[in-house]
Amino acid sequence: MATLVTGGAGFIGSHLVEELLKEEREVVVVDDLSTGKLENLPESENLTFIKGSITDREFLKNLFNSYRFDTVFHLAAVASVFKSVEKPIETHRVNFDGTLYLLEESKRTKVNKFVFASSAAVYGDLPELPKREDMPVKPLTPYGVDKYASERYVVNSFNLYELRTTALRFFNVYGEKQDPSSPYSGVISIFMDRTARYLRGEEVTIDIYGDGKQTRDFVYVKDVVKALLIAERDSRTEGEVFNVGTGRETSLLALIETLKEITGKIPPVRFLPHREGDIKRSVADISKIRALGYSPSFSLKDGLKRTFRWFIENLLR
Ligand SMILES: NC(=O)c1ccc[n+]([C@@H]2O[C@H](COP(=O)([O-])OP(=O)(O)OC[C@H]3O[C@@H](n4cnc5c(N)ncnc54)[C@H](O)[C@@H]3O)[C@@H](O)[C@H]2O)c1
Repeated sequence: MATLVTGGAGFIGSHLVEELLKEEREVVVVDDLSTGKLENLPESENLTFIKGSITDREFLKNLFNSYRFDTVFHLAAVASVFKSVEKPIETHRVNFDGTLYLLEESKRTKVNKFVFASSAAVYGDLPELPKREDMPVKPLTPYGVDKYASERYVVNSFNLYELRTTALRFFNVYGEKQDPSSPYSGVISIFMDRTARYLRGEEVTIDIYGDGKQTRDFVYVKDVVKALLIAERDSRTEGEVFNVGTGRETSLLALIETLKEITGKIPPVRFLPHREGDIKRSVADISKIRALGYSPSFSLKDGLKRTFRWFIENLLR
């Protein structure tokens, strides 16, 4: 039996793979390397990397015929909201069609568990906070719409086909290996990258769009991995959706203060006009997943410290 991680060469996927390998499991990663990197993956005789796209049905059929998968962790996606707005058709093929193809193969070959990476983007900008899983949703972008539609297919597959499934709505995930290369990357990876460069003597700024009072629920990647494993193992998650965050709301201004405490010095902060579509506040209610024994182990400060160390080491390489 092997465990499949789609998108396993990406940021979150590669942390999950590391953890699965620690448990001495046989892991198969499928990734088209569109944003993922081979160097994110550890060397291990228990790991098989296969370059391929989840939009290729024949490829998926052959894959599921070649292995018996116990669990499918489906994390592959065009993870950029911005790209989904620019290229809705391409994104839809990956984020929606790809999910359906994987569900079909998982059903056909009777995998034991299917865990899907959904997103807080499904909630959109409805004002009620903190976000609970049973609240109305209002996805605002192709990315959010595809995540929501996929999520419905995923959880409904439990009732319709007895495929054991779970969808996790990740809030703002951060940590080592997150790519800071686009202006739409995770804000923590961008701030970290700029600060590491600044400490090296480069002339850079930290750019904030709007007044910096916008809030997010920042969750450290190792805590997200913990939630993925609970989703895999706890039968109470079957056919259910769970928020994965910390339940703590942090403004960008507070984030910068914490970063300064850790690094001693940060680049000058530049305030730019508010970006259209930027949600003002976001925070998860995590009581549903807490009831299964989940609680975040990393404070923002601890998570930022570990992330910063990685950015410094990797910039200097
Ligand atoms: N990072 C966050 O804050 C966050 C928040 C909510 C949800 N998510 C979701 O979590 C998952 C992982 O996100 P991430 O932040 O690690 O992003 P990422 O871009 O690092 O990982 C996505 C991976 O999927 C791969 N991929 C893309 N298209 C593919 C295709 N057609 N076939 C095979 N592989 C393909 C990419 O190469 C990459 O390795 C995604 O589904 C994303 O939507 C992330």
